[in-house]
Amino acid sequence: MKRITIALDGHASCGKSTMAKQLAKEINYVYIDTGAMYRAVTLYAMRQGYIKADGSIDEAALEADISNIIIMFVYNTEKGRLETYLNGESVEDEIRTMEVSAHVSPIATLGFVRSAMVDLQRLMGEAKGVILDGRDIGTVVFPNAELKVFVTAAPEVRAQRRYDELTGKGLQVDYDEVLKNVRERDRIDSTRAISPLRKADDAVVLDNSHMTREEQMAWLRGAFAVASRD
Ligand code: DC
Repeated sequence: MKRITIALDGHASCGKSTMAKQLAKEINYVYIDTGAMYRAVTLYAMRQGYIKADGSIDEAALEADISNIIIMFVYNTEKGRLETYLNGESVEDEIRTMEVSAHVSPIATLGFVRSAMVDLQRLMGEAKGVILDGRDIGTVVFPNAELKVFVTAAPEVRAQRRYDELTGKGLQVDYDEVLKNVRERDRIDSTRAISPLRKADDAVVLDNSHMTREEQMAWLRGAFAVASRD
């Protein structure tokens, strides 16, 4: 079995990261959550006041500051999870809030943000044996990935899953707000000028609207076995 690069792209909140994390653990691959990187940049911009109350972004200020944003992934043995670090601080929980979710798509449309993140992703993933989840992994970051999966599900199904996840963490959220955010992120991600979300021509589609987590994992293990065959 050869070690390969796995690109898992698709719509927001369709379980990509859960699947990617589980597969990485099972096959002993490195997992890279590229959405977390755009979220960390967004949190940084919010903290610095680069995102105004009306949602507009001070792009010049963020661009001048972009090289001061250091993002890393560190395994927390106590919590048994991989955590996103922003300039030496774990921001794993903070980057998942609705506030960050509401601002992340416009940040991810900025060319200078994308090129900084893509450079970092290529560096992190240059050795084989990696699984990256995102929007442009199979189309832009690693167009030669041996396995490309495009994951999708109906927006209502995705919103319900996200709602359950957030309320499960004790957060107070409104289902309609979550659905609106899912739809809005789909729209921005798919229509932006630079690296829009689209299925790579050689990607296989996984629509998990009516699949259990175990059914998805069985599907993914099968796809991996075929792609990594010598
Ligand atoms: O997967 P996620 O919801 O954590 O991603 C957060 C945002 O980052 C999402 O709105 C799209 C953007 N993103 C991107 O543009 N390119 C990627 N490779 C990953 C995420």
